[in-house]
Amino acid sequence: MHPRRVKLLAGVVFFVTVVCFLRSSSFSLLPSAKSRFPYTQEHCPAKPPQPSLVPPHREGFDWRTIETHYPVQSFAQLPKRTKNSLPRIQFAFEEEESPLYHELVRKRRQAAVRAAFVRCWTSYKHRAWMKDELQPISGGSKTTFGGWGATLVDSLDTLWIMDLKDEFEEAVSAVTQIDFTPEGEVNMFETTIRYLGGLLAAYDLTDCKDSRLLEKAMELGDMIYASFDTPNRMPITRWNSVMAAKGEKQSAAANGIIAEMASFQLEFTRLSQLTGDMRYYDAVVRVSNVLEEQQNRTKIPGLWPVGIDVQTPDLTQGNLFTLGGMSDSAYEYLGKTYQLLHGGGPTGQQYKKMYTAAMNAITTHLLFRPRTPNKADILMPNSIRVEGPLLLPDHTAQHLACFAGGMLTLGGRLFDNATHVLLGKQVTDACIWSYRHAPNGIMPEVFTMQACPSLAPCEYDHGRSCRWPGFEAVGDARYGLRPEAVESVFYIYRVTGDNGYQDLAWDMFQAIDSRSRTALANAAIGDVMKLGDQLELQDSMESFWLAETLKYFYLCFAEPDVLSLDKWVFNTEAHPLRLD
Ligand SMILES: *[C@@H]1O[C@H](CO)[C@@H](O)[C@H](O)[C@H]1NC(C)=O
Ligand SMILES: *[C@@H]1O[C@H](CO)[C@@H](O)[C@H](O)[C@H]1NC(C)=O
Repeated sequence: MHPRRVKLLAGVVFFVTVVCFLRSSSFSLLPSAKSRFPYTQEHCPAKPPQPSLVPPHREGFDWRTIETHYPVQSFAQLPKRTKNSLPRIQFAFEEEESPLYHELVRKRRQAAVRAAFVRCWTSYKHRAWMKDELQPISGGSKTTFGGWGATLVDSLDTLWIMDLKDEFEEAVSAVTQIDFTPEGEVNMFETTIRYLGGLLAAYDLTDCKDSRLLEKAMELGDMIYASFDTPNRMPITRWNSVMAAKGEKQSAAANGIIAEMASFQLEFTRLSQLTGDMRYYDAVVRVSNVLEEQQNRTKIPGLWPVGIDVQTPDLTQGNLFTLGGMSDSAYEYLGKTYQLLHGGGPTGQQYKKMYTAAMNAITTHLLFRPRTPNKADILMPNSIRVEGPLLLPDHTAQHLACFAGGMLTLGGRLFDNATHVLLGKQVTDACIWSYRHAPNGIMPEVFTMQACPSLAPCEYDHGRSCRWPGFEAVGDARYGLRPEAVESVFYIYRVTGDNGYQDLAWDMFQAIDSRSRTALANAAIGDVMKLGDQLELQDSMESFWLAETLKYFYLCFAEPDVLSLDKWVFNTEAHPLRLD
C-alpha cells in the first residue's frame, strides 16, 4: 500500500474511533440535527414503545396541555400482535419473468407519470410553497384545509416513493415549520386523512428514522385528539378549534356524517403503535364499539346511513345509504384496520365481523348491473333510499364510489372470499368502462345509468337514446383530478397480476394528463362530456392529485415490491402505513 494511503487510513481509523467513543459515551459533543427529539431509531418499533413517547417541549401552542373536560378513566390497549396471521394479498409476481419489451414499456410509462408529478411539484414550490393548494391556471394559491400546507404534507410520501430525496428533505424541513395553532372551524376528517396520514406515512417510509416527522404527527395527533373531548367521547368532526383552545365545552354533532365519524381508525391506531400512547387507539375503539353495536339496527342491517346523530349517538335513523361520498371510508377502513392490527385481539375480530356484515349487505343492496350496448360484465355501486317498507335504489354512478373495487379486492384476499375479489374486479371494470366510453376518455363525477333488473346480464334498451350510450343523464360532468378509479386498477393489478390493467391505467393517465394540463400543472376539468380540443379548465388542483392520483398511477408501473400490499396498508388518502 502507498505510505500516504496508510497514513490516511490510520487517520480515518483514529477519527472513527473517536466518533464511536463520543457517540457511545453520554457526551453530547457531536451536535446532531435531530438531537432535540430523543426518539431516533434504527427501525420502526415491532411493538409499541414502553414507556410511551412524549414530544419534546417546543415553542407555540401545545394541544397536549389544554384542559380535558371529559377525561377517560381507563384506556383500551392495543392487542398483542400474532405472527404471520395475515394471508398473502399480492399475486406471486416473483415467480414470473417479464419480457424485456414489457419492462421497457413499463419504465417509460413510470417515467412519464413521475415527470407529470415533478412539473406540478415544481410549480407548487415556486408559487404556492407551504400553502394548501396551488392554483394551476393563475399560479395563485388557496387556503382550503386549515392553511397548514395541505399539498406539502400530502405529497411527502410520493416524493419519497418517486425517489426525489432532495425534494423530500427540503419538504420535511418546511414541515417542521408548520404550527398547528387554533384556526377556527376545521374539518377534522380531512385534517386526519391528509395531514396526519401524510406525516405518518412519510415517517414509516424513512423506517422511523426521521423523528422530525413523528414529532409533527404527535403534535397534530394531540390537536385531533382534543376534538374527541365530548360527553360521550365521540369526535366533533367540524370542530371549532379556537373555542376548544379557550377551554369551552363542546359536544359532537346531532347532524353528522358517517365517513367523518368513522375514518380515524387507521391513523390513530398507527399513531398508538408508533408512540405507545394509547389515547389515540382508545379514542377509535370507542367509535368502533358504537359502529358494531348499531350495525344491525339500521334501516338496512349491515350498513350505516350517511346521516347520523353523533351526539346521542344514534346511527339508526338515517334513510340514505351509499358507497359514494360521505360514506366511503367508513367501509374502507374496516378491512384495512383489521390488517393494520394483524387481525389481533377482540378488536381485530370486531373489524372482521363488521366487514363481513357490511359486505354481505353491500352485495345485496348497493351494487347494480348497468345496461350497456356491449353487455359489458360490470357492476356499479349505487345509492338506496328507504321510505317506510320500500327500498328505492338510485342508479347514479359516482366517481367517488370507484374505490369500492379496490376495497372488495383487498377484502376478498384478507378474508379469503373469492366472490369479493370477483366483485371488486367487476366494479373496477365498470369504472374503466365509464372512462373508455365517455367522449374524452374520462369518467364524469356523477351520472345515471340504465340498470338491469338483477345482477345478471341483460339487453341494452336502444329505444332510449342518449348521446353517449350508457350515460343516461350526467348530473355532474366535472372531473376533479380524482384518484378512485386508478386506485382500484392498482389493487386489481397487484392482486391478480393481470398486466392488461397496466395498459388500461396508461390509457386513463394519458386521457387525464393531456386534457387537464395547464402551463404550470394540472387542473380540474369543467365538463368531460363535451367534445373539443380545448376543454374548459377550473383553477383548482386538490392536494390528492399529487398524494393519490399520481401515486397510484406511478405504482401501477412500479416494480410490484414497491409498497407491496403485503407490507403496507394505504389510508383513504393513499398514504401507506407499515404493516411489518
Ligand atoms: C349482525 O348480523 C350479522 C349477520 O346477520 C351477524 O353475523 C353479526 O354478528 C351481527 N352483528 C351484531 C353486532 O350482532
Ligand atoms: C363471500 O361473500 C359472499 C357475499 O358477501 C357471501 O354470501 C359468501 O357466503 C362468502 N363466502 C365465504 C366463503 O365466506
